[in-house]
Amino acid sequence: MQTSSATGTNTFADDVRRGLSSAPKFLSSKYFYDDEGSRLFQEIMKLPEYYLTKSEFEIFSTQTKQIYEAFGASGAEFDLIELGAGDGAKTSVLVDYFLEQNAVFTYVPIDISEEALHFLTEKFHARFPNLSIQTERGDYFRTLETFQSKSDRRKIILFLGSNIGNFGRQQAHDFFAGLRAVMNENDRLFIGFDLQKDPRVILRAYDDASGVTAEFNLNLLTRINRELGADFNPADFSHYASYHPIEGAARSFLMSRKTQTVSIKALNKTFEFAAWEPIFMEISQKYNLAMIEDLANASGFQIAENFLDGKHFYADSLWKPV
Ligand code: AVJ
Repeated sequence: MQTSSATGTNTFADDVRRGLSSAPKFLSSKYFYDDEGSRLFQEIMKLPEYYLTKSEFEIFSTQTKQIYEAFGASGAEFDLIELGAGDGAKTSVLVDYFLEQNAVFTYVPIDISEEALHFLTEKFHARFPNLSIQTERGDYFRTLETFQSKSDRRKIILFLGSNIGNFGRQQAHDFFAGLRAVMNENDRLFIGFDLQKDPRVILRAYDDASGVTAEFNLNLLTRINRELGADFNPADFSHYASYHPIEGAARSFLMSRKTQTVSIKALNKTFEFAAWEPIFMEISQKYNLAMIEDLANASGFQIAENFLDGKHFYADSLWKPV
């Protein structure tokens, strides 16, 4: 399904070469989402341990009106742009309410997975026959550049699901500063942050009992096998999750269960793994409200309003440009 342009493939290959040649080894979690990875992530969101989706869904369902009012969505026509839309489950709650209020807008979901976009469009068309939808397939880092050349209609940008957690501090700052540069005064940015909480609750979310998160990580090895002609045996790697309470960072690793050599044809190269050597796969940063405010201010925004769930597990933060 994934259309891999020549440059796209080179980037993936280059990143895999660089990551597996480093000490410690790493792979980027942004490559988790091939069609199978997107499907596995849907499974993760249904897990009892994965509270993030439930908390954010609670915010969207119980504070819909307040969010609508804070967006100022009853005014002029606008674009509701969603970065990394996935299945759009949370957004459909907003869309439903916005349409009821006769708000005039186009929903613009952006996602890397063609299949995810296809499902999303089908579902939204069936549920909201009158909604205007304009999908964009791509890496949302790159699609940002296209905003500037497009309509100067008001933009409400959604970046939900704690996707920001996959960014390091500097990266998060640069990403928001980049968004700020293509936003006008009246545009708004609505971001989902997972909050710091009992570390056991966090750790369980990344180390679920049924092993879906393990499969989700291991799927990247399968993707490398398929797209780059590698001979990883996923059974020879073991998923390991950790949470660091001072850094507020959940991290996941694939540990090589034995001494082994993996060959990757597209790189014309082999890679040695020592027994129990880790590959760093993903960071899922957890925030507190002070960190969110610092990040907003440092990247050219101020917080208009924060929306929290009842347990204070999660915050959707509405930012306006300063
Ligand atoms: C999609 C980045 C929000 O970090 O919680 C879920 C991805 N990784 N389980 C997260 C993920 C393992 C997820 N984000």
